[in-house]
Amino acid sequence: MKLFDVYPLFDLNFIEAEGSFLWNDRNEKYLDLYGGHAVISIGHSHPTYVKMLTRQLHNIGFYSNSVRIPIQEEVAKQLGKLSGYEDYEFFMCNSGAEANENALKLASFHTNKKKVICFTKAFHGRTAAAVAATDNKKIIAPINETDNFIFLPFNEIEVLEDAFKNNEIAAVIIEGIQGVGGVQIPTTPFLQKIRTLCDRYQALLILDEIQSGYGRTGKFFAHQHANIKADIVTVAKGMGNGFPVGGVIISPEIEAKHGLLGTTFGGNYLACAASKAVLEVMESEKLMVNAKEMGDYLYQQLKEDEIIKEIRYQGLMFGIELKMPCAPFRNQLLQDFRILTGNASCPNTLRILPALNISKKELDVFISAFKTVSKLNIKKNEQILFC
Ligand SMILES: Cc1ncc(COP(=O)(O)O)c(C=O)c1O
Repeated sequence: MKLFDVYPLFDLNFIEAEGSFLWNDRNEKYLDLYGGHAVISIGHSHPTYVKMLTRQLHNIGFYSNSVRIPIQEEVAKQLGKLSGYEDYEFFMCNSGAEANENALKLASFHTNKKKVICFTKAFHGRTAAAVAATDNKKIIAPINETDNFIFLPFNEIEVLEDAFKNNEIAAVIIEGIQGVGGVQIPTTPFLQKIRTLCDRYQALLILDEIQSGYGRTGKFFAHQHANIKADIVTVAKGMGNGFPVGGVIISPEIEAKHGLLGTTFGGNYLACAASKAVLEVMESEKLMVNAKEMGDYLYQQLKEDEIIKEIRYQGLMFGIELKMPCAPFRNQLLQDFRILTGNASCPNTLRILPALNISKKELDVFISAFKTVSKLNIKKNEQILFC
């Protein structure tokens, strides 16, 4: 049987990883500034992570949610404390899309309404409701087409209230920072206005922190920079540092009922051990502080570079918009310097999402490579599309 060919692949076979580095089957060392789509939060194969997962596997790997699984409560308690959402409740699932699917479903059950406001350039996943809230027609199959999702222009305050007035809105779903959309940061007034309108029109505010959460921006959640609180927050990616796990953080105003949500694998012992390890390391190694410091350092080092049109960043979530297409730049970083970076839906934006414990020395390797590739491309300036 062959693999279903849905991904364009780099010809790389990694067989070992540690911290911010990966080694391939030819023993070549790569610097990871992308963490496999923002997943690696505490670094590859962190010793605490390896120890806790190994120990858990020796004890018990799986039983279903038909029995008490106290380690789920431990994760919820630690997550509540670190995120500032202590009085909320927690439902564990397996991925980002599933977290958003459950969040949207919950909002609809709770409000008994079905229209959802979402935004241009949004990405919320590939399952039914999550993909319907995603601004990419190419990945919406006919079966997922629905007029329940109303797309509004991102960061435009003026058009918000009409959408609430003219529709029975169950929820607004918005990323803490748009990731796939090219690291687009919602302004504080925009988020605060959404919060106010959700309260005024009895709609729930769902913050998708799947990419921007878990300390990446220097606060536990990106929306906390705007001083607002969500009714539902969704998490995944960095939560498990590579172990597939997701979760829905739910306001105490939303009443739980048996059967409302459910999952076979969600909250299994191994997912919980991985989640606990991430939270422990985040706290003990002060990774949110490091994310802020390293992010500011990277920005200072790159901000004057001539190839850059704009840097959008918060902590260690970077969208570096180039004056040229990102693909050749990214390929040069990979081929000539063995540095992994990411792209975004806007073709000129390079996405940088390193582990939250990356050091200055490791970032310096990237900064020097970036400047070299930049100089080379400025020389061939016929390639540069000033846009
Ligand atoms: C903001 C956001 N939401 C949801 C998802 C979907 O997560 P998953 O791929 O785990 O289903 C992603 C994945 O990139 C994401 O960036």
